[in-house]
Amino acid sequence: MSIEISIFDPGKTYFGRKQFDCEHPVINKFVRESLPSQVKRQLSVAYVLTDSDQHDQFAGFFTIANHAIDMSALSALRLGSLPKKIPCARLVMLGVDKAYKGRDLGRRLMKQALAITQQSSTQMGCYGLYLDADPVAVGFYEKLGFLLLEGDKSPEPSPMFAAVGSIATSLRSSQ
Ligand SMILES: CC(C)(COP(=O)(O)OP(=O)(O)OC[C@H]1O[C@@H](n2cnc3c(N)ncnc32)[C@H](O)[C@@H]1OP(=O)(O)O)[C@@H](O)C(=O)NCCC(=O)NCCS
Repeated sequence: MSIEISIFDPGKTYFGRKQFDCEHPVINKFVRESLPSQVKRQLSVAYVLTDSDQHDQFAGFFTIANHAIDMSALSALRLGSLPKKIPCARLVMLGVDKAYKGRDLGRRLMKQALAITQQSSTQMGCYGLYLDADPVAVGFYEKLGFLLLEGDKSPEPSPMFAAVGSIATSLRSSQ
């Protein structure tokens, strides 16, 4: 298996994108129908995993965008005094096709998202990476160093955050 990660090109045809199946209906529909237009309209940037042994099959992806959260949302993390609005990145969507799950590819995508967040923070204010975790994925994100902001809100999505200050450690310890 030879899997590459690259920035998603909305003008390109990706083998298997229309059949993408990460076993999450909302994310599948997004990939099959909306991903190219989201990226074309600059609402998100996407990174995609392709399998060069399988005609560059679309094996997984994430989308990331600029975001801002209320300082009160971070109170559980006890980060000291902060301005009212906190600039951050937001992981919007993430999925690995069921044929590729359990091979560390979700972690590889998340490491890329964390590295982008870290890099962004050197170019403009970006305090960390925010996401709304699906109940089944909370444990996955915890392994990457994300903290729950309001506890586990299952069956609703749970807000989670990784502060830039902790990302270097997360990247090292999740290798
Ligand atoms: C969540 C998802 C991205 C994980 O991808 P994956 O490639 O199967 O995960 P990896 O193989 O990289 O797993 C990395 C680690 O997380 C663990 N893990 C994977 N999925 C997990 C889950 N749902 N809950 C808890 N831990 C999980 C793995 O066991 C592994 O840990 P280990 O190294 O200690 O063994 C994938 O299952 C998926 O696409 N799910 C459907 C879509 C979804 O829920 N997206 C997130 C919405 S917020």
